[in-house]
Amino acid sequence: MEMTNNKTQVPTLEPARQFYFMDLLREYNEKKSAELGRKLTYHIETFGCQMNAKDSEKLAGILETAGYVPVESEQADFVLYNTCTVRENANTKVYGRIGYLGNLKKKNPEMKIALCGCMMQEPHVIEKIKKSYHFVDIVFGTHNIYMLAELIWRKVSGQKRVFEILDGTDKIVEDLPSEHKYGFKAGVNIMYGCNNFCSYCIVPYVRGRERSRKPEDIIAEVQKLAAEGIVEVMLLGQNVNSYGKTLDNPMSFAELLREVEKVDGIERIRFMTSHPKDLSDELIEVMKNSKKICRHLHLPMQSGSTDVLRRMNRKYTKDDYLALVEKIKTAMPEISLTTDIIVGFPGETEEDFCDTLDVVAKAGFDSAYTFLYSKRTGTPAAIMENQVTDEVAKERFNRLLALVSEQSAKLTERHTGEVAEVLVEERNEQDASLLTGRLSNNLLVHFPGAETLIGKLVKVKLSECKGFYYLGSLAE
Ligand code: 5AD
Ligand code: SF4
Repeated sequence: MEMTNNKTQVPTLEPARQFYFMDLLREYNEKKSAELGRKLTYHIETFGCQMNAKDSEKLAGILETAGYVPVESEQADFVLYNTCTVRENANTKVYGRIGYLGNLKKKNPEMKIALCGCMMQEPHVIEKIKKSYHFVDIVFGTHNIYMLAELIWRKVSGQKRVFEILDGTDKIVEDLPSEHKYGFKAGVNIMYGCNNFCSYCIVPYVRGRERSRKPEDIIAEVQKLAAEGIVEVMLLGQNVNSYGKTLDNPMSFAELLREVEKVDGIERIRFMTSHPKDLSDELIEVMKNSKKICRHLHLPMQSGSTDVLRRMNRKYTKDDYLALVEKIKTAMPEISLTTDIIVGFPGETEEDFCDTLDVVAKAGFDSAYTFLYSKRTGTPAAIMENQVTDEVAKERFNRLLALVSEQSAKLTERHTGEVAEVLVEERNEQDASLLTGRLSNNLLVHFPGAETLIGKLVKVKLSECKGFYYLGSLAE
């Protein structure tokens, strides 16, 4: 195939440069499709958090602009794994799956395999892929996902393997294409990276320093989404409460929320994740007075022990956390609180763990994501003394889980009989006669209804509580 191009010089500025490569790649893919008598396909597999899910939507936007069509399975011409490394088991899962991709590639000579995401920012991972996974074609990290078209172009232009990992960046490339999975709700990045360096966490090393997007860029994106029919936005950042501090014209997260609230067409606003140390009174006030901000706050506590929290570098105490919960619940009694908890942090004693149980008992979490501590090489906690044995950690984990489940079942039940506004999200997977809707407080309700309601806000009676969700019926 003719690989040279007679286009003008490659632009140096972004995003023009990437649109140039998307164009080249689309022409190439069209020719290739004609030869093969079929469309070229892609599949993205996403591991990990909402940030990765959002990045995958951007990657999908680039691939579709470049002429690839999506398919559900990994039997595709371009397969991309967007990886996570927050806990060791996330890495293990990815290695197993890459092996499987190698077998698929033997059957499809057109297949290109690419890896990106947090795991790829770790030098020991890159070494292993270079050495042991020769069939992987393209590898990039978290700082240059916008370059996907350029990297594929290098590969199809003859480069054997493309490895492009940046140590960090202060650049935010705006205005690239993005897909969204649902037509009615979408995530919006408001900031990237994290500066907190919690001692167990690898995120600051793999996602880099905190960078906030300019408010005008965020609002323009939200307006565009609203014009496309999106009614719910989720504002995304590792620590949204410290939004705006590094901008040329600093702005608080609460102020940003006020601006997003003004966008017509947006009915619901969610955000993730809040660090307790930065949650301001101003934010509580804005939430309380808002008609659009959902009645749900995810507030990771990590541990209930002041001593463990200090060694985790969380910068709050057990009492600070409890006082904050009290303040939030006083302002918004109907709010649903969720949290993250790590069990078995180095040096955690039985007494420390009992403090965690105590906070869970007092705070009243609608649900809690519980994790066994996982040692991440390069973080300060990895070399702390007194690592807790697996056996002790698992035993504590089970005790915590029992308390959390008991409490969340009780709390969920408190809305039985109420009529609530829900956003209808999809047809129920198990029972096709039912729809699934999400309440403002993030709980789900299943109820009979027509598919035409998907994407709409409707009133539903919460007739019966099933532990973690409701069964209900449309209320007129
Ligand atoms: N081990 C276990 N859990 C962790 N988390 C982050 N790092 C680790 C680790 N090394 C958890 C925290 C965080 C959530 C996203 O993942 O609870 O809030
Ligand atoms: Fe990790 Fe702490 Fe940053 Fe969250 S706030 S991403 S736990 S370092």
